[in-house]
Amino acid sequence: MNAPNILVVDDDPALLRVMALRLEKEGFGVQSVDSAERALVALALKLPDLVLTDLRMAGMDGMALFAAISKRYPGVPVIIMTAHGTIPDAVKATRRGVAGFIGKPFEAKDLLEEIQRALRVNASPRASTVDEGWRDEMVTRSPAMEAVLREARMVASTDASVLIQGESGTGKELLARAIHKASARAGAPFVAVNCGAMPENLLESELFGYIKGAFTGALRDSPGLLQSAHGGSVFLDEIGDMPAALQVKLLRTLQERKVRPLGATREIAIDVRILCATHRDLEKEMAQGRFREDLFYRLNVVSFVIPALKDRREDIALLANGFLKELAARYSRPARHFAAEAMELMMNARWPGNVRQLRNVVEKAVALSAEATVSSSVVERAIKHQAQEVASLDDAKKEFEREYLVRLLKQTRGNITQAAKLAQRNRSEFYSLLHRHGLEPADFKAPPP
Ligand SMILES: Nc1ncnc2c1ncn2[C@@H]1O[C@H](COP(=O)(O)OP(=O)(O)OP(=O)(O)O)[C@@H](O)[C@H]1O
Ligand SMILES: [Mg+2]
Repeated sequence: MNAPNILVVDDDPALLRVMALRLEKEGFGVQSVDSAERALVALALKLPDLVLTDLRMAGMDGMALFAAISKRYPGVPVIIMTAHGTIPDAVKATRRGVAGFIGKPFEAKDLLEEIQRALRVNASPRASTVDEGWRDEMVTRSPAMEAVLREARMVASTDASVLIQGESGTGKELLARAIHKASARAGAPFVAVNCGAMPENLLESELFGYIKGAFTGALRDSPGLLQSAHGGSVFLDEIGDMPAALQVKLLRTLQERKVRPLGATREIAIDVRILCATHRDLEKEMAQGRFREDLFYRLNVVSFVIPALKDRREDIALLANGFLKELAARYSRPARHFAAEAMELMMNARWPGNVRQLRNVVEKAVALSAEATVSSSVVERAIKHQAQEVASLDDAKKEFEREYLVRLLKQTRGNITQAAKLAQRNRSEFYSLLHRHGLEPADFKAPPP
C-alpha cells in the first residue's frame, strides 16, 4: 500500500514544520498549508487520505473547514487539534462526524494513534460490508428522527464515544444497537450493562471482572463485560447512575484502553467502543458534582437526543400499525388494522412512556379485539387499562417494597441480620420478602478493598 497522504493545516508555521517532519519520519506523505482556505485549494487539486487541522485559526477555522470537507469530500476523515480548554468546541465539531480530535500539546505517539485509528476506520470498506438493515428496527418517518439516524450512520463508522439522551421508552437502546450494527464492529459483541440496576460492588466486578479469590464468592476468574466486548461495543445504560468511584475507574480504563480485573496485578488491553445512554440531565449532574466532567467529555464526543413521541406524532400511526401486525401475528389474533377514530385517539394521546408505552397499548388492544378492525372503544380501553396499571396501588406498593429492600441491602452490604433489624422484621420474614422479590443478599456483599 502507498504511504497515506496527510494534509496538515495550522496557522502556526513553527508547529506546522515540526508536525510535517514528525509525520514524514513515520512514513506519511505530508502536505502542509497555513490556512483553511489554502487547505480547500489543496483538496480540490488532490484528495489526501486524512486532514489534520488546527481548530482556532484566523479566517476560516477548523470547524468550518471540517464542515466544508464533509460536504464536498465526505470520505476524507478529519482530525481536529484543539488548544487546552477548548474541548467543548471540539465536542461540538465531533457531533457532526469528525474522525477524532486531539488536545494540544500532544505526544507524538498519541497523534499517531489518533491518525492510525482514523485511517483504519476509513480504510475498512464499511459502506459495502455494513448490513444495510442496520436501522430496520427503527421505524420512523419523522424528519427529526431521520436527522438523528443520518448522523448516527456517519458516526457509527468512527470509534467516537456516543451519548444518547431521551425520555424513557424513546428508543435509546435501539439506537445504540443500530449504531453498533452500522459500525465496523458489527461482527463483534454488543454488550449492554445497566449502571443503575446493580449495587456498586456488583457493577464493578461485572464491568471490570475479577480473579479467583479476589473476594469471598469469587470462585474462579471472571472476565469483565468490558473485556468480553473486546472488538465490539459496550452499551452503558443509565450512565448517570454510575457511582463516583466507578466513574474514576471507567475514565482510567477509557484513557488507557486497559482493564485491571479486581484482585489482578496485570492489566489487559481492550478495544471497545463506548455507547451510553441516560434519561438524566448530565450537565446538571455535573454542575452538582455528581458526574465527573472529564468522564463526561470522554463519553460525550458525539451526542444524540431522541425526540419524545409527542414531538413526532407523524410516527405514531406508522409504529402502531407495525406493532399491530407484529403482535397479531405473534398471538394469532384477528386484528388487522385500526379504525380511523381508534388511530385518531392514539395520535392525540400523551404517551409519557413514549414508544414503549405505545407498544404496550397496541399489545392490549390486539388482545382485546375480536375483530379485524380494532375499534376506538378497544383502544380506549387499552389506554385506560394502561393508565390504571400505572396507578394501581398494588403495583406501586410492590415496586416501593422492592426499592426499599434494595436500598436496605445496599446500605447493609447484604447483612441480613442488620437489614432485618432496620426493617423491623424477623430474619425469616425478611428472607421471604427478599425471596418474593427475587433478591439475593450475596449480590450486595462487598468484596474486600
Ligand atoms: N423507532 C422505533 N421503532 C420501533 N420500535 C421502537 C422504536 N423506538 C423504540 N422502540 C421500541 O420501544 C421499546 C423501548 O425502546 P428502548 O428500550 O430502546 O427505549 P429506551 O429509551 O432505552 O427506554 P428506557 O429509557 O426506558 O431505557 C422497545 O420495545 C423498542 O423496540
Ligand atoms: Mg433503555
